[in-house]
Amino acid sequence: MHQAVEKILVTHEQISKRCVELGALINKDYKGETIILVGLLKGSVPFIAELMKHMDIECEIDFMDVSSYHGTTTSGDIRIIKDLECSVKDRHVLICEDIIDSGKTLQAVTQMLISKSAKSVKVVSLLDKPEGRVVDIQADYVGFVIPNEFVIGFGLDYDELYRNLPYVGVLKPSYYQ
Ligand code: IMP
Ligand code: MG
Repeated sequence: MHQAVEKILVTHEQISKRCVELGALINKDYKGETIILVGLLKGSVPFIAELMKHMDIECEIDFMDVSSYHGTTTSGDIRIIKDLECSVKDRHVLICEDIIDSGKTLQAVTQMLISKSAKSVKVVSLLDKPEGRVVDIQADYVGFVIPNEFVIGFGLDYDELYRNLPYVGVLKPSYYQ
């Protein structure tokens, strides 16, 4: 275990197994449709890579970067750093996110895609921290519900580090205190 990790919350094996299940649900719900799978950079990268292996529907991949997260609390202001390359007009969009905390990121992105006339907008998130929610939004597909702790690994960072850990773990408080 990495020295910055207090405890492992979700193992690599659990993530792999859950991605098979999520893929099956997504395949069933979108049967016969073509979708755009939109990864929110950078945290969703390992998750989208694992999940898409288990999706057998027709699917384009695109990425957006809307991150505005500094340190360990959500600032609330969302900036578009990188926009989509494809048009979402009349397309089914499935947003792929690493974690939903306050829900502000997802609410902003969802509203933006709806305003660009997407046919539908759904969300798949590896992790959900429901205790952190300040806006009324939830994912359509969730990998794991976790307690209100700051986690790192499998895409999730603390000041851009630890995204490469193969599991999700709680960051030792001594690393940000
Ligand atoms: P929200 O807008 O508060 O829902 O925040 C979502 C974004 O905040 C995620 O995409 C992450 O980048 C970041 N985030 C929220 N909680 C954590 C955490 O525990 N560890 C690392 N990043 C987090
Ligand atoms: Mg993020």
